Amino acid sequence: MGRRFLQERRSDRYYRQAQAEGLRSRAAFKLEYLDRRFGLLGPGRRVLDLGAAPGGWAIYAAGAVGPRGEVVAVDLRPIEPIEGVRVVRGRVGDPGLRARLGEVPFDLVLSDLSPRISGAYATDHARSVDLVREAMRLAEEVLVPGGRFAAKVFDGELVEDLVRELSAEFADVRRTKPPASRGASSEIYLVARGLRKGAGALSGSSAEPPGPRNIHSQVHLRSRA
Ligand SMILES: C[S@@+](CC[C@H](N)C(=O)[O-])C[C@H]1O[C@@H](n2cnc3c(N)ncnc32)[C@H](O)[C@@H]1O
Repeated sequence: MGRRFLQERRSDRYYRQAQAEGLRSRAAFKLEYLDRRFGLLGPGRRVLDLGAAPGGWAIYAAGAVGPRGEVVAVDLRPIEPIEGVRVVRGRVGDPGLRARLGEVPFDLVLSDLSPRISGAYATDHARSVDLVREAMRLAEEVLVPGGRFAAKVFDGELVEDLVRELSAEFADVRRTKPPASRGASSEIYLVARGLRKGAGALSGSSAEPPGPRNIHSQVHLRSRA
């Protein structure tokens, strides 16, 4: 393919939209996997989706929570309107963000936040871990007691610290790698359930007795150069 053709194709609105839809659907498979495996979503649940653009997770979540539930989607980037989803453009880590989220508490906080990739793995890994920490801080503020938190992280040596920190707050912490995460990708997901303290009263649907402390590895940690 010639360079001119590629340039024209990239500036084509429909091509860009198809790319975005493709991203949306690939991402949605990962959330579907997490949902099936860990029972994260259900009718009537209130969900906060962090790092939500272009919107695959938010679309899936809105379908799963139905008209009685709520999905609030946050990203630095704009998100095309999605039925049943309230979009908040903002930065996770900004102290002013919480006040813009509307009604709390939430039953589930999702984080698919990704740092801008520098190409230096140690840097990208550390930035990804920092983003999970920001998401976790917010989650602890806005989740119901017993609430759930699921977050992507680029795997590496700092993940153990994150798991320890999550385990201090949640009754059950697991790590997993959805099949839709490409084989070569370094991303894994941490799923934490049973927040020991929270923002408000339990909202019936999310009530879950805290399980035993269980740090269960679903993936082999790969060593990195
Ligand atoms: C992999 S994408 C998310 C894909 C999304 N889950 C989906 O299903 O379409 C990661 C997103 O994190 C966002 N992001 C990174 N850092 C952020 C921050 N501090 N606050 C808000 N969004 C952030 C990026 O703008 C990007 O859109």
